[in-house]
Amino acid sequence: MNNASPDMPDMEFQHKVALVTGGAKGIGLAIANALAARGATVIAADVSIAASADMQSLPHAPGILGARVDVSDEASVLALFATILDRFAAVDIVVSSAGIFRTATIPEISAAEWDRVMAVNLRGTFLVGREAFKQMRERRAGRIVNLASTAGKTGGATAQAHYAASKAGVICFTKSLAREAAPYHVNVNAVAPGPTETDLTASWSPAVRAASAAAIPWGEFAQPQDVAEAVVFLVSDRARYLTGEILDVNGGMVMD
Ligand SMILES: NC(=O)c1ccc[n+]([C@@H]2O[C@H](COP(=O)([O-])OP(=O)(O)OC[C@H]3O[C@@H](n4cnc5c(N)ncnc54)[C@H](O)[C@@H]3O)[C@@H](O)[C@H]2O)c1
Repeated sequence: MNNASPDMPDMEFQHKVALVTGGAKGIGLAIANALAARGATVIAADVSIAASADMQSLPHAPGILGARVDVSDEASVLALFATILDRFAAVDIVVSSAGIFRTATIPEISAAEWDRVMAVNLRGTFLVGREAFKQMRERRAGRIVNLASTAGKTGGATAQAHYAASKAGVICFTKSLAREAAPYHVNVNAVAPGPTETDLTASWSPAVRAASAAAIPWGEFAQPQDVAEAVVFLVSDRARYLTGEILDVNGGMVMD
Protein backbone atom coordinates (compact mmCIF):
# COMPACT_ATOMS: atom_id res chain seq x y z
CA MET A 1 0.00 0.00 0.00
CA ASN A 2 1.38 3.39 -0.95
CA ASN A 3 0.54 6.11 1.59
CA ALA A 4 2.03 9.01 -0.34
CA SER A 5 -0.05 12.15 -0.77
CA PRO A 6 -1.92 12.45 -4.07
CA ASP A 7 0.11 15.62 -4.75
CA MET A 8 3.36 13.70 -4.69
CA PRO A 9 4.73 12.68 -8.07
CA ASP A 10 4.84 9.02 -7.12
CA MET A 11 1.00 8.99 -7.02
CA GLU A 12 0.73 10.45 -10.50
CA PHE A 13 -1.51 7.63 -11.74
CA GLN A 14 -4.04 7.77 -8.92
CA HIS A 15 -7.55 7.40 -10.38
CA LYS A 16 -6.08 5.86 -13.55
CA VAL A 17 -6.96 2.33 -14.66
CA ALA A 18 -4.18 0.45 -16.42
CA LEU A 19 -4.23 -2.84 -18.31
CA VAL A 20 -0.94 -4.69 -18.80
CA THR A 21 -1.04 -7.82 -20.96
CA GLY A 22 1.61 -10.39 -20.18
CA GLY A 23 1.52 -8.84 -16.72
CA ALA A 24 1.95 -12.03 -14.67
CA LYS A 25 5.74 -12.01 -14.87
CA GLY A 26 8.85 -10.54 -16.42
CA ILE A 27 8.72 -7.09 -17.98
CA GLY A 28 4.91 -6.97 -17.83
CA LEU A 29 4.91 -7.59 -14.07
CA ALA A 30 7.58 -4.91 -13.56
CA ILE A 31 5.41 -2.45 -15.51
CA ALA A 32 2.32 -3.45 -13.50
CA ASN A 33 4.22 -2.96 -10.23
CA ALA A 34 5.65 0.40 -11.33
CA LEU A 35 2.20 1.73 -12.27
CA ALA A 36 0.57 0.38 -9.11
CA ALA A 37 3.32 1.95 -6.97
CA ARG A 38 2.33 5.31 -8.49
CA GLY A 39 -1.31 4.89 -7.61
CA ALA A 40 -2.87 3.23 -10.67
CA THR A 41 -5.45 0.49 -10.46
CA VAL A 42 -3.70 -2.21 -12.48
CA ILE A 43 -5.11 -5.26 -14.22
CA ALA A 44 -2.44 -7.76 -15.23
CA ALA A 45 -3.93 -9.96 -17.94
CA ASP A 46 -2.11 -13.12 -18.88
CA VAL A 47 -2.71 -16.51 -20.45
CA SER A 48 -1.07 -18.12 -17.40
CA ILE A 49 -3.76 -16.81 -15.02
CA ALA A 50 -6.66 -19.18 -14.34
CA ALA A 51 -10.02 -18.09 -15.68
CA SER A 52 -12.25 -16.69 -12.97
CA ALA A 53 -15.67 -15.06 -12.78
CA ASP A 54 -14.14 -12.00 -11.15
CA MET A 55 -10.70 -10.41 -11.11
CA GLN A 56 -8.61 -11.50 -8.14
CA SER A 57 -5.41 -10.06 -6.71
CA LEU A 58 -2.32 -11.81 -8.04
CA PRO A 59 -0.92 -14.06 -5.28
CA HIS A 60 2.65 -12.89 -6.01
CA ALA A 61 1.66 -9.21 -6.49
CA PRO A 62 -1.23 -8.48 -4.10
CA GLY A 63 -1.73 -4.87 -5.26
CA ILE A 64 -2.54 -6.00 -8.78
CA LEU A 65 -5.69 -7.56 -10.17
CA GLY A 66 -5.21 -10.62 -12.37
CA ALA A 67 -7.35 -11.58 -15.33
CA ARG A 68 -7.03 -14.33 -17.88
CA VAL A 69 -6.58 -13.47 -21.55
CA ASP A 70 -5.14 -15.12 -24.60
CA VAL A 71 -4.21 -12.08 -26.67
CA SER A 72 -4.13 -14.12 -29.88
CA ASP A 73 -7.84 -14.97 -29.46
CA GLU A 74 -10.22 -12.19 -30.49
CA ALA A 75 -13.09 -13.45 -28.31
CA SER A 76 -10.80 -13.59 -25.28
CA VAL A 77 -9.60 -10.01 -25.84
CA LEU A 78 -13.16 -8.74 -26.31
CA ALA A 79 -14.25 -10.51 -23.13
CA LEU A 80 -11.35 -8.96 -21.19
CA PHE A 81 -12.24 -5.43 -22.29
CA ALA A 82 -15.92 -6.05 -21.55
CA THR A 83 -15.05 -7.19 -18.02
CA ILE A 84 -12.75 -4.22 -17.38
CA LEU A 85 -15.16 -1.63 -18.80
CA ASP A 86 -18.06 -3.17 -16.90
CA ARG A 87 -16.17 -2.78 -13.64
CA PHE A 88 -14.21 0.43 -14.17
CA ALA A 89 -16.08 2.21 -17.04
CA ALA A 90 -12.81 3.16 -18.73
CA VAL A 91 -9.22 2.10 -19.12
CA ASP A 92 -6.70 4.95 -19.29
CA ILE A 93 -3.44 3.11 -19.92
CA VAL A 94 -2.94 -0.05 -22.00
CA VAL A 95 0.42 -1.80 -22.27
CA SER A 96 0.86 -4.82 -24.55
CA SER A 97 3.69 -6.85 -23.07
CA ALA A 98 2.37 -10.38 -23.79
CA GLY A 99 4.78 -12.08 -26.12
CA ILE A 100 6.50 -15.33 -26.96
CA PHE A 101 10.06 -15.87 -28.08
CA ARG A 102 11.29 -18.75 -30.21
CA THR A 103 14.72 -19.61 -31.55
CA ALA A 104 15.11 -21.52 -34.79
CA THR A 105 16.97 -21.02 -38.04
CA ILE A 106 14.74 -20.14 -40.96
CA PRO A 107 14.87 -23.64 -42.54
CA GLU A 108 13.71 -25.05 -39.18
CA ILE A 109 10.71 -22.74 -38.72
CA SER A 110 7.45 -24.55 -39.50
CA ALA A 111 4.57 -22.58 -40.95
CA ALA A 112 2.58 -23.35 -37.79
CA GLU A 113 5.32 -21.97 -35.55
CA TRP A 114 5.60 -18.84 -37.72
CA ASP A 115 1.84 -18.34 -37.43
CA ARG A 116 1.87 -18.85 -33.64
CA VAL A 117 4.57 -16.23 -33.06
CA MET A 118 2.72 -13.78 -35.30
CA ALA A 119 -0.59 -14.57 -33.60
CA VAL A 120 0.62 -13.78 -30.09
CA ASN A 121 3.12 -10.98 -30.77
CA LEU A 122 1.54 -9.11 -33.68
CA ARG A 123 -2.14 -10.08 -33.91
CA GLY A 124 -2.35 -9.89 -30.10
CA THR A 125 -0.90 -6.37 -30.08
CA PHE A 126 -3.32 -5.38 -32.84
CA LEU A 127 -6.39 -6.82 -31.07
CA VAL A 128 -5.53 -5.19 -27.74
CA GLY A 129 -4.57 -1.90 -29.39
CA ARG A 130 -7.78 -1.85 -31.42
CA GLU A 131 -10.02 -2.36 -28.40
CA ALA A 132 -8.03 0.16 -26.36
CA PHE A 133 -8.26 2.80 -29.08
CA LYS A 134 -12.02 2.27 -29.61
CA GLN A 135 -12.86 3.39 -26.10
CA MET A 136 -10.04 5.93 -25.75
CA ARG A 137 -11.19 7.61 -28.98
CA GLU A 138 -14.62 8.21 -27.45
CA ARG A 139 -13.10 9.87 -24.40
CA ARG A 140 -10.37 11.64 -26.40
CA ALA A 141 -7.79 10.50 -23.85
CA GLY A 142 -5.54 7.54 -23.26
CA ARG A 143 -2.06 6.09 -23.49
CA ILE A 144 -1.00 2.93 -25.33
CA VAL A 145 2.48 1.36 -25.18
CA ASN A 146 3.57 -1.75 -27.05
CA LEU A 147 6.58 -3.96 -26.41
CA ALA A 148 8.75 -4.13 -29.51
CA SER A 149 12.38 -5.33 -29.46
CA THR A 150 15.79 -4.46 -30.88
CA ALA A 151 15.26 -7.59 -33.02
CA GLY A 152 12.39 -5.76 -34.73
CA LYS A 153 14.90 -3.18 -35.98
CA THR A 154 17.95 -5.31 -36.74
CA GLY A 155 16.53 -8.70 -37.68
CA GLY A 156 17.01 -11.69 -35.42
CA ALA A 157 20.59 -11.95 -34.17
CA THR A 158 20.16 -15.43 -32.68
CA ALA A 159 18.04 -17.34 -35.23
CA GLN A 160 14.68 -15.77 -34.51
CA ALA A 161 13.35 -14.54 -37.86
CA HIS A 162 9.71 -15.07 -36.89
CA TYR A 163 10.13 -13.21 -33.60
CA ALA A 164 12.04 -10.37 -35.26
CA ALA A 165 9.46 -10.04 -38.04
CA SER A 166 6.63 -9.98 -35.50
CA LYS A 167 8.37 -7.16 -33.61
CA ALA A 168 9.00 -5.21 -36.83
CA GLY A 169 5.24 -5.54 -37.32
CA VAL A 170 4.65 -4.24 -33.80
CA ILE A 171 6.81 -1.19 -34.59
CA CYS A 172 4.87 -0.44 -37.77
CA PHE A 173 1.48 -1.09 -36.15
CA THR A 174 2.46 1.26 -33.31
CA LYS A 175 3.22 4.04 -35.80
CA SER A 176 0.01 3.40 -37.75
CA LEU A 177 -2.12 3.46 -34.62
CA ALA A 178 -0.27 6.58 -33.42
CA ARG A 179 -1.24 8.38 -36.64
CA GLU A 180 -4.91 7.39 -36.33
CA ALA A 181 -5.08 8.13 -32.62
CA ALA A 182 -3.25 11.48 -32.52
CA PRO A 183 -6.26 13.60 -33.57
CA TYR A 184 -8.06 12.22 -30.51
CA HIS A 185 -5.08 13.06 -28.25
CA VAL A 186 -4.49 9.38 -27.55
CA ASN A 187 -0.77 8.73 -27.77
CA VAL A 188 0.73 5.44 -28.86
CA ASN A 189 4.38 4.50 -28.44
CA ALA A 190 6.57 1.43 -28.11
CA VAL A 191 9.65 0.49 -26.17
CA ALA A 192 12.28 -1.61 -27.88
CA PRO A 193 14.27 -3.43 -25.20
CA GLY A 194 17.48 -5.27 -25.82
CA PRO A 195 18.12 -8.50 -23.89
CA THR A 196 16.43 -8.21 -20.49
CA GLU A 197 16.76 -10.46 -17.43
CA THR A 198 13.49 -12.44 -17.50
CA ASP A 199 12.49 -16.07 -18.07
CA LEU A 200 12.57 -15.26 -21.79
CA THR A 201 16.36 -14.86 -21.76
CA ALA A 202 17.07 -17.18 -18.81
CA SER A 203 16.62 -20.14 -21.17
CA TRP A 204 19.38 -18.94 -23.51
CA SER A 205 22.59 -20.98 -23.48
CA PRO A 206 25.57 -19.50 -21.60
CA ALA A 207 27.32 -18.96 -24.95
CA VAL A 208 24.40 -17.01 -26.41
CA ARG A 209 24.01 -14.96 -23.21
CA ALA A 210 27.74 -14.13 -23.19
CA ALA A 211 27.71 -13.14 -26.87
CA SER A 212 24.61 -11.01 -26.32
CA ALA A 213 26.11 -9.24 -23.29
CA ALA A 214 29.31 -8.60 -25.26
CA ALA A 215 27.24 -6.78 -27.91
CA ILE A 216 25.85 -4.35 -25.31
CA PRO A 217 28.11 -1.32 -24.64
CA TRP A 218 26.61 -1.09 -21.12
CA GLY A 219 27.99 -4.62 -20.61
CA GLU A 220 24.95 -6.28 -19.07
CA PHE A 221 21.33 -7.18 -19.80
CA ALA A 222 18.57 -4.75 -18.82
CA GLN A 223 16.57 -5.38 -15.67
CA PRO A 224 12.77 -5.50 -16.14
CA GLN A 225 12.56 -2.31 -14.05
CA ASP A 226 14.70 -0.45 -16.60
CA VAL A 227 12.06 -1.14 -19.24
CA ALA A 228 9.22 -0.40 -16.82
CA GLU A 229 10.60 3.08 -16.05
CA ALA A 230 10.61 3.93 -19.77
CA VAL A 231 6.98 2.79 -20.01
CA VAL A 232 6.04 4.87 -16.94
CA PHE A 233 7.45 7.94 -18.68
CA LEU A 234 5.58 7.21 -21.94
CA VAL A 235 2.21 6.88 -20.17
CA SER A 236 2.77 9.94 -17.98
CA ASP A 237 1.63 13.49 -18.67
CA ARG A 238 5.28 14.36 -19.27
CA ALA A 239 4.98 12.48 -22.57
CA ARG A 240 1.70 14.15 -23.54
CA TYR A 241 2.90 15.30 -26.98
CA LEU A 242 5.08 12.27 -27.71
CA THR A 243 3.57 9.74 -30.10
CA GLY A 244 4.72 7.17 -32.66
CA GLU A 245 8.06 6.89 -30.87
CA ILE A 246 9.97 3.62 -30.56
CA LEU A 247 12.05 4.16 -27.44
CA ASP A 248 15.24 2.09 -27.24
CA VAL A 249 16.06 0.60 -23.84
CA ASN A 250 19.13 -1.38 -24.78
CA GLY A 251 22.30 -0.13 -23.04
CA GLY A 252 23.55 1.32 -26.32
CA MET A 253 23.31 -1.92 -28.32
CA VAL A 254 21.39 -0.30 -31.19
CA MET A 255 21.39 3.45 -31.77
CA ASP A 256 19.22 4.84 -34.56
N1 LIG B 1 13.23 -10.34 -22.15
C1 LIG B 1 13.78 -9.76 -23.21
O1 LIG B 1 14.99 -9.86 -23.43
C2 LIG B 1 12.93 -8.96 -24.18
C3 LIG B 1 13.62 -8.14 -25.10
C4 LIG B 1 12.86 -7.40 -26.00
C5 LIG B 1 11.49 -7.47 -25.98
N2 LIG B 1 10.87 -8.27 -25.08
C6 LIG B 1 9.43 -8.32 -25.14
O2 LIG B 1 8.89 -7.91 -23.90
C7 LIG B 1 7.66 -8.58 -23.65
C8 LIG B 1 7.71 -9.26 -22.31
O3 LIG B 1 8.79 -10.20 -22.35
P1 LIG B 1 9.32 -10.91 -21.02
O4 LIG B 1 10.79 -10.99 -21.15
O5 LIG B 1 8.71 -10.30 -19.84
O6 LIG B 1 8.76 -12.37 -21.26
P2 LIG B 1 8.20 -13.44 -20.20
O7 LIG B 1 8.23 -14.72 -20.94
O8 LIG B 1 8.92 -13.32 -18.91
O9 LIG B 1 6.69 -12.95 -19.98
C9 LIG B 1 5.77 -12.96 -21.03
C10 LIG B 1 4.38 -13.06 -20.45
O10 LIG B 1 3.45 -13.07 -21.56
C11 LIG B 1 2.47 -14.07 -21.28
N3 LIG B 1 1.87 -14.56 -22.53
C12 LIG B 1 2.43 -15.34 -23.46
N4 LIG B 1 1.53 -15.63 -24.43
C13 LIG B 1 0.38 -14.98 -24.10
C14 LIG B 1 -0.90 -14.91 -24.69
N5 LIG B 1 -1.17 -15.57 -25.83
N6 LIG B 1 -1.83 -14.14 -24.09
C15 LIG B 1 -1.57 -13.50 -22.92
N7 LIG B 1 -0.38 -13.58 -22.29
C16 LIG B 1 0.59 -14.30 -22.88
C17 LIG B 1 3.24 -15.17 -20.56
O11 LIG B 1 2.37 -16.03 -19.85
C18 LIG B 1 4.16 -14.35 -19.66
O12 LIG B 1 3.54 -14.07 -18.41
C19 LIG B 1 7.46 -9.54 -24.82
O13 LIG B 1 6.62 -8.94 -25.78
C20 LIG B 1 8.86 -9.70 -25.36
O14 LIG B 1 8.87 -10.07 -26.72
C21 LIG B 1 11.55 -9.01 -24.17
